[in-house]
Amino acid sequence: MTDVLILSGTGWLSGRIARRWLDAGATVTCLARGERPAPDGAEFVRGDRDDPAAYTALTRRDWDHVVDISSQASQVGAAVGALGERAARWTYVSSLSVYSDDETVGADESAPRHPSARPGDEYEYGAQKAAAEDAVGTLGDRALIVRPGLIVGEGDPSDRFGYWAAAFARAGAEPVLSPPLEGKSAQVIDVDDLAEFIVAATVSGPVNAIGDVQRFDEVLREIRTAAGHTGEIVVAEEDWLVAHGVQHWAGPRSLPLWLPPGMTGFMTRSNSAYRDGGGRPRPLTDTIRTVVADERARGVDRDRRAGLTRAEELTLLADR
Ligand SMILES: NC(=O)c1ccc[n+]([C@@H]2O[C@H](COP(=O)([O-])OP(=O)(O)OC[C@H]3O[C@@H](n4cnc5c(N)ncnc54)[C@H](OP(=O)(O)O)[C@@H]3O)[C@@H](O)[C@H]2O)c1
Repeated sequence: MTDVLILSGTGWLSGRIARRWLDAGATVTCLARGERPAPDGAEFVRGDRDDPAAYTALTRRDWDHVVDISSQASQVGAAVGALGERAARWTYVSSLSVYSDDETVGADESAPRHPSARPGDEYEYGAQKAAAEDAVGTLGDRALIVRPGLIVGEGDPSDRFGYWAAAFARAGAEPVLSPPLEGKSAQVIDVDDLAEFIVAATVSGPVNAIGDVQRFDEVLREIRTAAGHTGEIVVAEEDWLVAHGVQHWAGPRSLPLWLPPGMTGFMTRSNSAYRDGGGRPRPLTDTIRTVVADERARGVDRDRRAGLTRAEELTLLADR
Protein backbone atom coordinates (compact mmCIF):
# COMPACT_ATOMS: atom_id res chain seq x y z
CA MET A 1 0.00 0.00 0.00
CA THR A 2 1.25 3.49 -0.84
CA ASP A 3 2.37 5.32 2.29
CA VAL A 4 1.89 9.07 1.94
CA LEU A 5 2.93 11.86 4.30
CA ILE A 6 1.30 15.25 3.81
CA LEU A 7 3.00 18.12 5.58
CA SER A 8 -0.33 19.89 6.21
CA GLY A 9 -3.30 17.90 4.88
CA THR A 10 -5.95 19.86 6.74
CA GLY A 11 -6.12 22.97 4.50
CA TRP A 12 -8.14 23.73 1.39
CA LEU A 13 -5.86 22.21 -1.26
CA SER A 14 -3.88 19.93 1.03
CA GLY A 15 -7.07 18.45 2.48
CA ARG A 16 -8.24 17.59 -1.02
CA ILE A 17 -4.88 16.01 -1.83
CA ALA A 18 -5.20 13.89 1.31
CA ARG A 19 -8.79 12.92 0.40
CA ARG A 20 -7.79 12.00 -3.15
CA TRP A 21 -5.04 9.72 -1.94
CA LEU A 22 -7.30 8.04 0.60
CA ASP A 23 -9.84 7.41 -2.17
CA ALA A 24 -7.02 5.82 -4.21
CA GLY A 25 -6.37 3.39 -1.36
CA ALA A 26 -3.21 4.98 0.09
CA THR A 27 -2.33 5.21 3.77
CA VAL A 28 -2.21 8.93 4.56
CA THR A 29 -0.55 10.72 7.47
CA CYS A 30 -1.06 14.48 7.95
CA LEU A 31 1.19 16.73 10.04
CA ALA A 32 -0.36 20.03 11.18
CA ARG A 33 -1.01 22.04 14.34
CA GLY A 34 -4.62 20.87 14.56
CA GLU A 35 -6.57 24.05 13.78
CA ARG A 36 -8.78 22.03 11.41
CA PRO A 37 -9.48 18.28 11.25
CA ALA A 38 -7.70 15.90 8.88
CA PRO A 39 -9.92 14.00 6.43
CA ASP A 40 -11.60 10.86 7.80
CA GLY A 41 -9.32 7.88 7.40
CA ALA A 42 -6.05 9.84 7.64
CA GLU A 43 -3.68 9.48 10.57
CA PHE A 44 -3.13 12.86 12.21
CA VAL A 45 0.18 13.86 13.79
CA ARG A 46 0.09 17.13 15.72
CA GLY A 47 3.10 19.37 15.37
CA ASP A 48 4.18 22.95 14.78
CA ARG A 49 6.68 23.08 11.93
CA ASP A 50 8.40 26.07 13.48
CA ASP A 51 9.63 23.52 16.06
CA PRO A 52 12.36 21.27 14.54
CA ALA A 53 11.17 18.42 16.81
CA ALA A 54 7.89 18.34 14.84
CA TYR A 55 9.36 15.77 12.43
CA THR A 56 10.84 13.40 15.02
CA ALA A 57 7.95 10.92 15.07
CA LEU A 58 7.87 10.86 11.25
CA THR A 59 11.55 9.95 10.72
CA ARG A 60 11.05 6.40 12.01
CA ARG A 61 9.50 5.16 8.78
CA ASP A 62 9.96 5.33 5.04
CA TRP A 63 7.49 7.22 2.87
CA ASP A 64 6.49 6.47 -0.71
CA HIS A 65 5.53 10.09 -1.19
CA VAL A 66 5.86 13.29 0.84
CA VAL A 67 3.84 16.38 -0.09
CA ASP A 68 4.62 19.83 1.29
CA ILE A 69 2.67 23.05 0.73
CA SER A 70 4.40 25.39 3.19
CA SER A 71 5.30 28.91 2.06
CA GLN A 72 8.00 29.24 4.76
CA ALA A 73 11.38 28.29 3.32
CA SER A 74 12.76 27.44 6.78
CA GLN A 75 9.96 24.88 7.32
CA VAL A 76 10.50 23.32 3.90
CA GLY A 77 14.27 23.16 4.37
CA ALA A 78 13.90 21.54 7.80
CA ALA A 79 11.49 18.95 6.41
CA VAL A 80 13.83 18.04 3.54
CA GLY A 81 16.68 17.74 6.04
CA ALA A 82 14.72 15.52 8.42
CA LEU A 83 12.80 13.36 5.94
CA GLY A 84 14.53 13.62 2.56
CA GLU A 85 16.42 10.34 2.96
CA ARG A 86 13.20 8.57 3.94
CA ALA A 87 11.15 9.66 0.91
CA ALA A 88 10.99 7.85 -2.44
CA ARG A 89 9.19 10.84 -3.97
CA TRP A 90 8.54 14.41 -2.86
CA THR A 91 6.06 16.92 -4.24
CA TYR A 92 6.36 20.55 -3.29
CA VAL A 93 3.49 22.94 -4.01
CA SER A 94 5.14 26.19 -5.04
CA SER A 95 3.46 28.95 -7.07
CA LEU A 96 3.64 30.85 -10.35
CA SER A 97 4.54 33.74 -8.01
CA VAL A 98 8.16 32.49 -8.07
CA TYR A 99 8.55 34.15 -11.47
CA SER A 100 10.01 37.65 -11.60
CA ASP A 101 8.80 38.45 -15.14
CA ASP A 102 5.05 39.10 -15.41
CA GLU A 103 5.15 40.59 -18.92
CA THR A 104 6.34 37.82 -21.26
CA VAL A 105 3.39 35.99 -22.77
CA GLY A 106 3.58 32.18 -22.88
CA ALA A 107 6.66 31.82 -20.63
CA ASP A 108 7.54 28.27 -19.53
CA GLU A 109 9.35 26.83 -16.51
CA SER A 110 12.72 28.20 -17.65
CA ALA A 111 11.56 31.80 -16.97
CA PRO A 112 13.61 33.74 -14.39
CA ARG A 113 12.57 33.44 -10.74
CA HIS A 114 12.74 35.94 -7.90
CA PRO A 115 15.98 35.67 -5.93
CA SER A 116 15.60 33.06 -3.19
CA ALA A 117 14.93 34.41 0.30
CA ARG A 118 17.77 34.16 2.77
CA PRO A 119 17.36 33.61 6.53
CA GLY A 120 16.42 36.90 8.18
CA ASP A 121 15.02 38.50 5.01
CA GLU A 122 11.70 40.28 5.31
CA TYR A 123 8.93 37.85 4.30
CA GLU A 124 8.14 37.92 0.59
CA TYR A 125 5.97 35.13 -0.76
CA GLY A 126 7.70 34.59 -4.14
CA ALA A 127 11.18 34.68 -2.58
CA GLN A 128 10.12 32.17 0.11
CA LYS A 129 8.69 29.85 -2.52
CA ALA A 130 11.91 30.15 -4.56
CA ALA A 131 14.08 29.26 -1.54
CA ALA A 132 11.73 26.38 -0.70
CA GLU A 133 12.06 25.11 -4.28
CA ASP A 134 15.86 25.20 -3.91
CA ALA A 135 15.65 22.99 -0.81
CA VAL A 136 13.34 20.47 -2.47
CA GLY A 137 15.44 20.58 -5.64
CA THR A 138 18.34 18.95 -3.73
CA LEU A 139 16.31 15.71 -3.93
CA GLY A 140 16.93 15.61 -7.69
CA ASP A 141 14.72 13.34 -9.78
CA ARG A 142 12.68 12.35 -6.74
CA ALA A 143 11.22 15.87 -6.58
CA LEU A 144 8.23 17.34 -8.40
CA ILE A 145 7.86 21.11 -7.98
CA VAL A 146 4.30 22.10 -8.81
CA ARG A 147 3.76 25.79 -9.58
CA PRO A 148 0.00 26.48 -9.54
CA GLY A 149 -1.53 29.66 -10.81
CA LEU A 150 -4.84 30.91 -9.46
CA ILE A 151 -6.52 27.92 -7.80
CA VAL A 152 -10.31 28.01 -8.00
CA GLY A 153 -13.21 25.82 -7.02
CA GLU A 154 -15.52 24.82 -4.21
CA GLY A 155 -14.64 26.32 -0.85
CA ASP A 156 -11.94 28.69 -2.20
CA PRO A 157 -10.88 30.68 0.88
CA SER A 158 -9.43 33.54 -1.20
CA ASP A 159 -12.88 34.53 -2.58
CA ARG A 160 -11.38 35.85 -5.84
CA PHE A 161 -12.78 33.82 -8.75
CA GLY A 162 -16.01 33.17 -6.84
CA TYR A 163 -16.58 36.92 -6.52
CA TRP A 164 -17.84 37.02 -10.08
CA ALA A 165 -20.32 34.22 -9.50
CA ALA A 166 -21.59 36.00 -6.39
CA ALA A 167 -21.64 39.43 -8.08
CA PHE A 168 -23.77 38.20 -11.00
CA ALA A 169 -26.03 36.07 -8.81
CA ARG A 170 -26.72 38.84 -6.25
CA ALA A 171 -27.41 41.44 -8.97
CA GLY A 172 -30.07 39.36 -10.77
CA ALA A 173 -31.61 41.76 -13.31
CA GLU A 174 -29.64 44.78 -11.99
CA PRO A 175 -26.27 46.04 -13.36
CA VAL A 176 -22.87 44.62 -12.48
CA LEU A 177 -19.65 46.69 -12.54
CA SER A 178 -16.84 45.26 -14.63
CA PRO A 179 -13.23 46.30 -15.27
CA PRO A 180 -12.04 46.77 -18.87
CA LEU A 181 -12.02 43.36 -20.56
CA GLU A 182 -10.59 44.10 -24.01
CA GLY A 183 -7.46 42.01 -24.62
CA LYS A 184 -7.43 40.62 -21.05
CA SER A 185 -6.83 36.97 -20.17
CA ALA A 186 -7.80 34.65 -17.37
CA GLN A 187 -5.96 31.44 -16.50
CA VAL A 188 -6.93 29.26 -13.56
CA ILE A 189 -6.74 25.68 -12.27
CA ASP A 190 -9.55 23.78 -10.58
CA VAL A 191 -8.52 22.68 -7.09
CA ASP A 192 -9.62 19.11 -7.83
CA ASP A 193 -7.61 18.95 -11.08
CA LEU A 194 -4.58 20.12 -9.13
CA ALA A 195 -5.07 17.52 -6.39
CA GLU A 196 -5.49 14.84 -9.06
CA PHE A 197 -2.26 15.89 -10.80
CA ILE A 198 -0.27 15.80 -7.55
CA VAL A 199 -1.51 12.30 -6.77
CA ALA A 200 -1.11 10.87 -10.28
CA ALA A 201 1.94 12.61 -11.79
CA THR A 202 5.19 10.68 -12.23
CA VAL A 203 7.22 13.52 -13.76
CA SER A 204 9.94 15.47 -11.93
CA GLY A 205 11.22 19.03 -11.84
CA PRO A 206 9.21 22.26 -12.03
CA VAL A 207 5.77 22.23 -13.69
CA ASN A 208 3.42 25.19 -14.20
CA ALA A 209 0.14 23.70 -12.98
CA ILE A 210 -2.44 25.83 -14.71
CA GLY A 211 -5.29 25.51 -17.17
CA ASP A 212 -5.46 26.90 -20.66
CA VAL A 213 -5.40 30.63 -21.34
CA GLN A 214 -8.95 32.01 -21.66
CA ARG A 215 -10.34 35.37 -22.67
CA PHE A 216 -11.44 37.21 -19.53
CA ASP A 217 -14.58 38.57 -21.22
CA GLU A 218 -15.63 35.05 -22.25
CA VAL A 219 -15.02 33.70 -18.76
CA LEU A 220 -17.18 36.45 -17.24
CA ARG A 221 -19.87 35.83 -19.86
CA GLU A 222 -19.96 32.13 -18.93
CA ILE A 223 -20.13 32.89 -15.22
CA ARG A 224 -22.91 35.42 -15.86
CA THR A 225 -24.94 32.86 -17.78
CA ALA A 226 -24.43 30.19 -15.12
CA ALA A 227 -25.44 32.66 -12.38
CA GLY A 228 -28.59 33.67 -14.28
CA HIS A 229 -27.73 37.36 -14.52
CA THR A 230 -29.89 39.32 -16.97
CA GLY A 231 -28.88 42.89 -16.12
CA GLU A 232 -26.42 45.18 -17.82
CA ILE A 233 -22.62 44.84 -17.54
CA VAL A 234 -21.21 48.32 -16.93
CA VAL A 235 -17.57 48.40 -18.02
CA ALA A 236 -15.55 51.10 -16.25
CA GLU A 237 -12.24 52.46 -17.51
CA GLU A 238 -8.95 51.64 -15.80
CA ASP A 239 -8.30 55.26 -14.70
CA TRP A 240 -11.83 55.73 -13.41
CA LEU A 241 -11.62 52.62 -11.23
CA VAL A 242 -8.22 53.60 -9.85
CA ALA A 243 -9.46 57.14 -9.14
CA HIS A 244 -12.41 55.63 -7.25
CA GLY A 245 -10.14 53.53 -5.03
CA VAL A 246 -10.97 50.14 -6.58
CA GLN A 247 -8.12 47.66 -6.18
CA HIS A 248 -6.77 45.25 -8.76
CA TRP A 249 -6.65 41.47 -8.37
CA ALA A 250 -7.75 40.72 -4.78
CA GLY A 251 -8.65 41.96 -1.33
CA PRO A 252 -11.30 44.37 -0.04
CA ARG A 253 -12.80 46.92 -2.48
CA SER A 254 -11.29 45.08 -5.46
CA LEU A 255 -12.43 43.73 -8.79
CA PRO A 256 -10.85 40.29 -8.61
CA LEU A 257 -8.70 39.03 -11.51
CA TRP A 258 -8.44 42.59 -12.91
CA LEU A 259 -4.70 43.10 -13.44
CA PRO A 260 -2.74 46.36 -13.49
CA PRO A 261 -1.12 47.38 -16.80
CA GLY A 262 2.18 45.65 -17.58
CA MET A 263 1.13 42.19 -16.39
CA THR A 264 0.43 40.68 -19.80
CA GLY A 265 2.34 37.51 -18.91
CA PHE A 266 0.65 36.90 -15.56
CA MET A 267 -2.30 34.83 -16.76
CA THR A 268 -0.84 33.65 -20.05
CA ARG A 269 1.76 31.10 -18.95
CA SER A 270 2.67 27.92 -20.80
CA ASN A 271 1.02 24.77 -19.43
CA SER A 272 2.72 22.37 -21.87
CA ALA A 273 4.73 20.62 -19.15
CA TYR A 274 1.56 20.14 -17.08
CA ARG A 275 -0.30 18.66 -20.02
CA ASP A 276 2.70 16.53 -21.09
CA GLY A 277 2.91 15.28 -17.49
CA GLY A 278 -0.69 14.05 -17.59
CA GLY A 279 -2.49 17.19 -16.41
CA ARG A 280 -6.03 17.25 -17.76
CA PRO A 281 -7.82 20.49 -16.87
CA ARG A 282 -11.58 19.95 -16.87
CA PRO A 283 -13.73 22.24 -19.04
CA LEU A 284 -14.01 25.65 -17.38
CA THR A 285 -17.81 25.35 -17.68
CA ASP A 286 -17.72 22.50 -15.13
CA THR A 287 -15.65 24.55 -12.69
CA ILE A 288 -17.96 27.54 -13.14
CA ARG A 289 -21.04 25.42 -12.43
CA THR A 290 -19.43 24.18 -9.20
CA VAL A 291 -18.35 27.68 -8.16
CA VAL A 292 -21.79 29.21 -8.78
CA ALA A 293 -23.44 26.47 -6.69
CA ASP A 294 -20.82 26.91 -3.97
CA GLU A 295 -21.27 30.69 -3.84
CA ARG A 296 -25.05 30.30 -3.60
CA ALA A 297 -24.61 27.75 -0.80
CA ARG A 298 -22.14 29.97 1.11
CA GLY A 299 -24.30 33.08 0.52
CA VAL A 300 -23.72 35.61 -2.25
CA ASP A 301 -24.02 38.52 0.20
CA ARG A 302 -21.65 37.12 2.83
CA ASP A 303 -18.55 39.02 3.96
CA ARG A 304 -15.76 38.21 1.51
CA ARG A 305 -11.98 38.47 1.46
CA ALA A 306 -12.04 39.81 -2.12
CA GLY A 307 -14.31 42.03 -4.20
CA LEU A 308 -16.77 44.84 -3.72
CA THR A 309 -19.68 44.65 -1.34
CA ARG A 310 -22.98 45.15 -3.17
CA ALA A 311 -23.29 48.53 -1.39
CA GLU A 312 -19.86 49.61 -2.70
CA GLU A 313 -20.74 48.38 -6.18
CA LEU A 314 -24.06 50.28 -6.22
CA THR A 315 -22.38 53.50 -5.07
CA LEU A 316 -19.80 53.17 -7.85
CA LEU A 317 -22.51 52.40 -10.43
CA ALA A 318 -24.46 55.49 -9.34
CA ASP A 319 -21.35 57.59 -10.07
CA ARG A 320 -21.14 56.45 -13.70
N1 LIG B 1 -4.80 29.89 -3.67
C1 LIG B 1 -4.12 30.04 -4.79
O1 LIG B 1 -4.64 30.54 -5.79
C2 LIG B 1 -2.68 29.55 -4.86
C3 LIG B 1 -1.95 29.82 -6.01
C4 LIG B 1 -0.65 29.31 -6.13
C5 LIG B 1 -0.13 28.51 -5.11
N2 LIG B 1 -0.86 28.29 -3.98
C6 LIG B 1 -0.29 27.40 -2.96
O2 LIG B 1 -1.23 26.34 -2.73
C7 LIG B 1 -1.07 25.88 -1.38
C8 LIG B 1 -2.41 25.97 -0.65
O3 LIG B 1 -2.47 24.97 0.31
P1 LIG B 1 -3.74 24.84 1.28
O4 LIG B 1 -4.95 25.29 0.54
O5 LIG B 1 -3.76 23.47 1.87
O6 LIG B 1 -3.36 25.92 2.40
P2 LIG B 1 -4.18 26.34 3.70
O7 LIG B 1 -5.65 26.09 3.50
O8 LIG B 1 -3.69 27.68 4.10
O9 LIG B 1 -3.67 25.27 4.80
C9 LIG B 1 -2.40 25.36 5.41
C10 LIG B 1 -2.03 23.99 5.98
O10 LIG B 1 -0.75 24.06 6.61
C11 LIG B 1 -0.88 23.74 8.01
N3 LIG B 1 0.05 24.59 8.76
C12 LIG B 1 0.12 25.95 8.74
N4 LIG B 1 1.09 26.38 9.57
C13 LIG B 1 1.64 25.26 10.13
C14 LIG B 1 2.69 25.04 11.08
N5 LIG B 1 3.38 26.06 11.63
N6 LIG B 1 2.99 23.76 11.42
C15 LIG B 1 2.31 22.72 10.89
N7 LIG B 1 1.32 22.87 9.98
C16 LIG B 1 0.98 24.12 9.61
C17 LIG B 1 -2.35 24.02 8.32
O11 LIG B 1 -2.82 23.31 9.44
P3 LIG B 1 -2.83 23.99 10.93
O12 LIG B 1 -3.27 25.42 10.76
O13 LIG B 1 -3.77 23.14 11.72
O14 LIG B 1 -1.41 23.87 11.43
C18 LIG B 1 -3.01 23.50 7.04
O15 LIG B 1 -3.03 22.08 7.03
C19 LIG B 1 0.01 26.74 -0.76
O16 LIG B 1 1.27 26.14 -0.96
C20 LIG B 1 -0.06 28.03 -1.59
O17 LIG B 1 1.13 28.76 -1.55
C21 LIG B 1 -2.12 28.80 -3.83
